Amino acid sequence: MSNLKYFRILIILTTLIHQNLANSSTINCDFKKFGSAYQCVVKNVEIFKTKNTLTDAIGSHDGLKTNDDVSWIIISHGIINKFPAGIDKIFKNLEGIRITNMDLKSVNQEDLKAIKKLKFLNLSSNKITRIDANLFQFNPQLEHISLSNNEISHIDPQAFSGLKSLNQLFLRGNKCKNKLLLRSAEDKEQVRKLIRDIEAGNCE
Ligand SMILES: *[C@@H]1O[C@H](CO)[C@@H](O)[C@H](O)[C@H]1NC(C)=O
Ligand SMILES: *[C@@H]1O[C@H](CO)[C@@H](O)[C@H](O)[C@H]1NC(C)=O
Repeated sequence: MSNLKYFRILIILTTLIHQNLANSSTINCDFKKFGSAYQCVVKNVEIFKTKNTLTDAIGSHDGLKTNDDVSWIIISHGIINKFPAGIDKIFKNLEGIRITNMDLKSVNQEDLKAIKKLKFLNLSSNKITRIDANLFQFNPQLEHISLSNNEISHIDPQAFSGLKSLNQLFLRGNKCKNKLLLRSAEDKEQVRKLIRDIEAGNCE
């Protein structure tokens, strides 16, 4: 291979590495026990359109615990308008995610797909505008979803179907015109009824 070719490859590699770094960030965690859960309470983070991949968590663990013991991540300080990518790789056993009072504008199937053990999702007080079909297709263990106080104006009729373990669904404080869908449901029977209403009504 000529030197020129080597040089070109080097340039491409450097550019790729640079882009990767430019798009990624680390999170600062305050690691805490909370009942039987072990949480990363994020101190401050910046996640936005061009910089939404998390590569590492910084912070001192409690005793002998490691990232694999972390079952909850809580984000309510910083700048976030895009769901953080990469948290599933940092924390492989996440069961709960709370991202509240941020500027999160959307949440997609791709964002949640790898978080297979997810049981609790609290995205209340953000700026989410729609809940698409099959959003939770890869999170069958979800028990609790809170989407209160967003700007949701569309909920796909199939959005919550298939979530057999869902016990609580909070939707109050959104923009859906169909008033039925602005309710929240706090036990399994109410959840089933709310989901039937959504399936029948379509929230636009
Ligand atoms: C970084 O983000 C920009 C803008 O979203 C995107 O075009 C680029 O492909 C990303 N780079 C990497 C390595 O992910
Ligand atoms: C979701 O998080 C908010 C903000 O931290 C909290 O006030 C609310 O109680 C949580 N919702 C549920 C249903 O746990």
